[in-house]
Amino acid sequence: MSERRESIHGQWSSRWAFILAATGSAVGLGNIWKFPYITGENGGGAFVLIYLLCIAVIGIPIMMAEILLGRRGRRSPINTMRFLAKSEGRTSLWRYLGWAGVIAGFLILSYYSVIAGWAVAYFFRAATGVFEGVTAAGVEAIFGNLTADPERLLAWHTVFMVMTMVVVSRGVRSGLERAVRFLMPALFVLLLVLVGYAANTGAFMEGLGFLFRPDFGAITANGVLIAMGHAFFTLSLGMGAIMVYGSYLPQDASIGKTTLMIAAADTTVALLAGMAIFPIVLANSMEPGAGPGLILKTLPIAFGHMPGGSFFGALFFLLLVFAAWTSALSLIEPLVAYLVENVGTTRLKASAWCGFGAWLLGVGSVQSFNVWSGEEYQLWGMTFFDVLDYLTANIMLPLGGLLIALFAAWGMRRSSLLDELQITDGVVFRIWRFLVRYVTPIAVILIFLNVIGVIDLTGH
Ligand code: PFF
Repeated sequence: MSERRESIHGQWSSRWAFILAATGSAVGLGNIWKFPYITGENGGGAFVLIYLLCIAVIGIPIMMAEILLGRRGRRSPINTMRFLAKSEGRTSLWRYLGWAGVIAGFLILSYYSVIAGWAVAYFFRAATGVFEGVTAAGVEAIFGNLTADPERLLAWHTVFMVMTMVVVSRGVRSGLERAVRFLMPALFVLLLVLVGYAANTGAFMEGLGFLFRPDFGAITANGVLIAMGHAFFTLSLGMGAIMVYGSYLPQDASIGKTTLMIAAADTTVALLAGMAIFPIVLANSMEPGAGPGLILKTLPIAFGHMPGGSFFGALFFLLLVFAAWTSALSLIEPLVAYLVENVGTTRLKASAWCGFGAWLLGVGSVQSFNVWSGEEYQLWGMTFFDVLDYLTANIMLPLGGLLIALFAAWGMRRSSLLDELQITDGVVFRIWRFLVRYVTPIAVILIFLNVIGVIDLTGH
């Protein structure tokens, strides 16, 4: 067995702490806010099926690869890639993969915080009883008023960014770990309550049909790319977030089992969110393709009409803020860890600068919903926010993930992989290696070729 490296940033207290933190990173706005609205925009069932396939064939193998590389390198993704490339005798250009991930995380955080700000705003609205007895037109107006006001959006964006930086600055053990322990199970229970409400709306079966009955006529090449991009986004893959969390993972934890647990938890939360939302959408004759505002226009109706709705509503949005918080931490952790390692700055200063930068960029996303929403401010029919989201989730993360898979599968020696996974050369190892060597990279490449029109997977 080779000599083990240790992280200078500390370690998780146990395997469970890692599972909680990685689940905290994975479960976030992606599951509850983004999954339902992109499913609605892309026609439902077929999109969900492709997304689930991408989780199984692309997401899970890449998550194992990221954790493995992180734990072996025990540094921020940039330094991990630099170290691994050297020790495996590969070109030092691999360090740029770490850089690409750090940049993607920074870009995502900038708009993620703006959307999380919506959830903060909705917490106060729910708590003060604004949703009681509300109609579909009423929630539409509430959402419209919020997003039309750049100052309010900016204020909530600022609040969320400061919250994130406070925890990041405190470091792995005391900051990240403590935050996730109770929040994840609580969020899960509240989602069940919402699904229970949806089951009584009268359109439950239609909602489930929309979510689970595949209609392949409704899916486009771009839809397939969005489904794959979302598999990366929702599992926090392709940018080093899981890699940096893996670098704090104790040596004796099983990478395969922990990956399966994280992926299962993440997927369950997304599907529950879909099951809660689509029955409400259909029962109120709303538009499934309503875009980024979808959950904010539907869930308040549920809270407005259930007993104790203000309490449950406030609790739900509070938990959503926490879920977003634990994800946001992991978006910036790779960059903060790198600055601490290489620039010799303190965690506090590094966090403050990163937060300030991402906050500033986020102003562009704030404006995308009001002053910059007009066509003259759009690029290819997309606002600044849309462009950032598309570029990061659908291009940068899948490309980063592809390279991570290629490095783990082809760049690492078999003996290093076996040593780090601490398994014998058995069936599980062989399946995983086959997947990351061939299936995962080919699937990602095919989906890219499909969207630029070189091949045609969807038949139209
Ligand atoms: N997985 C998070 C979500 O679903 O909300 C978002 C995210 C976190 C993406 C961390 C990427 C990442 F590295």
